[in-house]
Amino acid sequence: MTARIDKVITSGTFELDGGSWEVDNNVWIVGDDAECIVIDAGHEAAPILDAVGERRLLAIVSTHAHNDHVNAAAEVADAKGAPIWLHPDEAPLWGMTYPDRAPDGALAHGQVITVAGTELTVLHTPGHAPGACCLHAPELGVVFSGDTLFNGGPGATGRSYSDFPTIVESIRDKLLTLPSETVVHTGHGDDTSIGAEAPHVQEWLDRGH
Ligand SMILES: [Fe+2]
Repeated sequence: MTARIDKVITSGTFELDGGSWEVDNNVWIVGDDAECIVIDAGHEAAPILDAVGERRLLAIVSTHAHNDHVNAAAEVADAKGAPIWLHPDEAPLWGMTYPDRAPDGALAHGQVITVAGTELTVLHTPGHAPGACCLHAPELGVVFSGDTLFNGGPGATGRSYSDFPTIVESIRDKLLTLPSETVVHTGHGDDTSIGAEAPHVQEWLDRGH
């Protein structure tokens, strides 16, 4: 039995630099009937916990620490006794949502997470946020891109802790090098694929976002 992927869409606000925006977030759950991981527990714990059900939750993996990707993580973690994993370079952003609580574990580039017999490799892809990470699951033919790569191009880099040249370098070096048929499960909105996005790098550079 191989791992399956479930998607939960939650709603709330993204807040940074004094602004607030209504957003829908994709929460991804990878596992089988016995165990799973949650990628980006944002906004609403209840529907995420419903999707996890009675399964053992190995970890909540946060692609980055913008509040819309982590603000339900503590409640889900506490309900299931699961750790929260995050790249250490996300500490400043994490502290905006959780000033009195640290993540339980650190993500590192090249780290392999095994769930339900399926391996996910952590790719450190800074730019949208300094410790932004993607998760590549070669056996499933997917990469979970957080807010690094969307259907239509790179994630936003206009606010604090973001950098456009850095995100383009991350995408080019660490995502567009994946097999072109790889499906990209994004943090917001629709899926895309590596092959669909790869031809557009020069357009992104020309437009500057
Ligand atoms: Fe984000």
